[in-house]
Amino acid sequence: MRKPVEDFEISQKPSTYEAKAGARVGQVFLDATTVSERVSQLGAEITQDYRGRELLLISILKGGVVFMADLVRTIDLPLEMDFLAISSYLKEHVDAGQKAVRFLKDLDQPIKDKDVLVVQDIVDTGLTLHYILRSLSLRRPGSLEVCTLLDRPQQRLVDIPVRYSGFTVSDDFVVGYGFDFRQAFRNIPYLAFLELEPSQPTLF
Ligand code: IMP
Ligand code: MG
Repeated sequence: MRKPVEDFEISQKPSTYEAKAGARVGQVFLDATTVSERVSQLGAEITQDYRGRELLLISILKGGVVFMADLVRTIDLPLEMDFLAISSYLKEHVDAGQKAVRFLKDLDQPIKDKDVLVVQDIVDTGLTLHYILRSLSLRRPGSLEVCTLLDRPQQRLVDIPVRYSGFTVSDDFVVGYGFDFRQAFRNIPYLAFLELEPSQPTLF
């Protein structure tokens, strides 16, 4: 007989939530229902705005993938998906503003004349997206907009036109729902604050 879902969840918890890389999953920030309701609202808005057009959603690996996967299922339009991979936040953060973000994986297809929506996990300093938008706009898409799950305007170093934003957030570092700390915790089904172990005094 199949194991009840509750049993499965409980048995998975210790390994999923245990401390990794000197940190652990802390207090819940946005629970799964809150996230899912907001994602559905964004999907409904996008559906209205892009009706009759050909939408291409571009997600940035790896943080944006969980959001993208949920978002596309709330958009009632024919659409395509593509993915970009860039150099990591940690590396960028160390010399923020000094070097360009690097494409580790480019798009699979041209975007000329297409209606492009970049799906991002969070717009923080904006440097990552600034570089990506500049680079994509050179390819002459029909339109180019941004949809981000989280927006942290207080940290912004460059202006980014954000068309769709799920939640405005403070400076606290979050994990789960695609967000990582040193590659851990992306599979937590909700957003949580990060709790550093006493031996780990700083984030970077
Ligand atoms: P930006 O170039 O500063 O806007 O960097 C945004 C990227 O940094 C995001 O795509 C995330 O991958 C990462 N990031 C920023 N804040 C957080 C956070 O609170 N948790 C996990 N990753 C974050
Ligand atoms: Mg990261």
